[in-house]
Amino acid sequence: MSSPDSRLFIGLMSGTSVDAIDAVLVRLHASTQRLETLSCVSVPFSSDMRQSIQTLQAPSAGELELAARVALKLAHLYAEGAQRAIDRAGFTARDITAIGAHGQTVRHHPAEGFTLQLLNAAQLAETTGIPVVYDLRPADIAAGGQGAPLVPAFHAHVFADQSECRAVVNIGGIANISVLPAAVPNSTSQVLGHDTGPGNTLLDQWHERHQGERFDAKGAWAAGGTADPGLLAAMLADEYFHRPPPKSTGRDDFNLEWLDRHLRAHTSARDSPPLSARDVQATLSELTATTIALACEEAAPAQVFLCGGGVYNADLIRRIAQRLPQCRVASTEAAGVDPMAVEAAAFAWLAARRVDALPGNLPAVTGASGSRVLGSVADPWGRLRA
Ligand SMILES: Nc1ncnc2c1ncn2[C@@H]1O[C@H](COP(=O)(O)OP(=O)(O)OP(=O)(O)O)[C@@H](O)[C@H]1O
Ligand SMILES: [Mg+2]
Repeated sequence: MSSPDSRLFIGLMSGTSVDAIDAVLVRLHASTQRLETLSCVSVPFSSDMRQSIQTLQAPSAGELELAARVALKLAHLYAEGAQRAIDRAGFTARDITAIGAHGQTVRHHPAEGFTLQLLNAAQLAETTGIPVVYDLRPADIAAGGQGAPLVPAFHAHVFADQSECRAVVNIGGIANISVLPAAVPNSTSQVLGHDTGPGNTLLDQWHERHQGERFDAKGAWAAGGTADPGLLAAMLADEYFHRPPPKSTGRDDFNLEWLDRHLRAHTSARDSPPLSARDVQATLSELTATTIALACEEAAPAQVFLCGGGVYNADLIRRIAQRLPQCRVASTEAAGVDPMAVEAAAFAWLAARRVDALPGNLPAVTGASGSRVLGSVADPWGRLRA
C-alpha cells in the first residue's frame, strides 16, 4: 500500500525484440529513495500481434488504422501485465500511485524530430483504474535530444558505486550502455550513455529466417558457427559505430535489409560462395559483442552489469567477457536485480519522476538542451493532482 514514506509504481516495457511485455511492481521509499522490485511478470506477444507490430515498422497502406488497433490491443495487454504484477505481489490497483508505460516503438527518427511509441494510454488507465505516464521520449527530442536512452539516470540510481566505475549494458533488441563513474551517491552529472547498436535484433531475425524459431536459445546455433572477419569488419565500418554520442538507434537502422546488403557486398567482393547461415549468425554475435565491448573499453569500468534478454544468450556473453578480461562481467542478478526487470523498473521510476515533477532525462546522455520532466499523463480521475 502507498504511504507517505513509500509509494508503489508499475513499469511496463515492450521493446524492439517484440517478444513480450515486461511488467514490474516497485516500491519507492521516500526517505532513502531506495527502490525495491516486488514482482516481475512477462506477457508474451501472440504471433499475430508480433506480425502486426512488425508490419508497422515500415510504411504501408492502411497503417494508420492498424496503428490505432494495435495501440488499443497493447493497452489491454499492458493492463493484463500490470494486473498480474499487482496480483503476484498481493496488492490491488488502488494501492498503485501510477503506471509508467513505454509503449511500442514503431519509428525512431530523433534527427527529424520525432519518435513514435504506440499505446492507447487512456484505455490503459481506464482498464487498470490507475493513472498512466506515457510518451516519455518526445519531450527530450523536442529539446534537441535523442529521446534515448532514458535508462542511465535509473541505472545510476540503482547500480552506481562510490568506489568504482561501473557500466550497465542492457542487451535488448538494441543494446545500450550506461557509464556510472565512481561518484557521490545520487549524483548523475558524470553519467554517460548511448545505444551501442544491435543487441539481439539481427541475431533474432536471422535465426528466425533460417531456423524458424524466434531466437537462438542460449546462442547454441551461433556457438557452432565461425565468425567471418571480412564480414565483421564491413559491418563494423557502418557509420553509426563511428559517430560520437549522443546517439540512439533502432530497427529502422539495423534490420535484415541492412544485413542482406552486407552479405551481397561480401559475396561479390570475394567472388566466393555465400557464407553458411550459421557462420553469419556467429558473425552477428561477434558484431554485438564487439560493439558492446568497445563501448565498455572506452569507459574502463571495473564492473560491467548486463541485463535484458541477451543475458540468456550464453554464446554472446562468453564473447563479451572474452573481450573484457580487465573487467568483472556479470548479470545484474549478481546485484540482486532480475535482468528482465531492469528496463521495466526504469519506466516505473520515470513515472515517479513525472508524478513528482522531476526531470527524467540526462542532457549529457541524450544531447537535449536541458533537463526535462518527461511524459504525458492519462489520469481521467484527476487523482495525481490531489
Ligand atoms: N534463453 C535465451 N537464449 C538466447 N536469447 C534469449 C533467451 N531469452 C531471451 N533471449 C533474447 O532476449 C530477447 C528479448 O530481450 P528483451 O526483452 O530484453 O529485449 P527487448 O524487448 O528488445 O527490450 P528493450 O528494448 O527494453 O531492451 C529475445 O528476443 C532473445 O533475443
Ligand atoms: Mg522484451
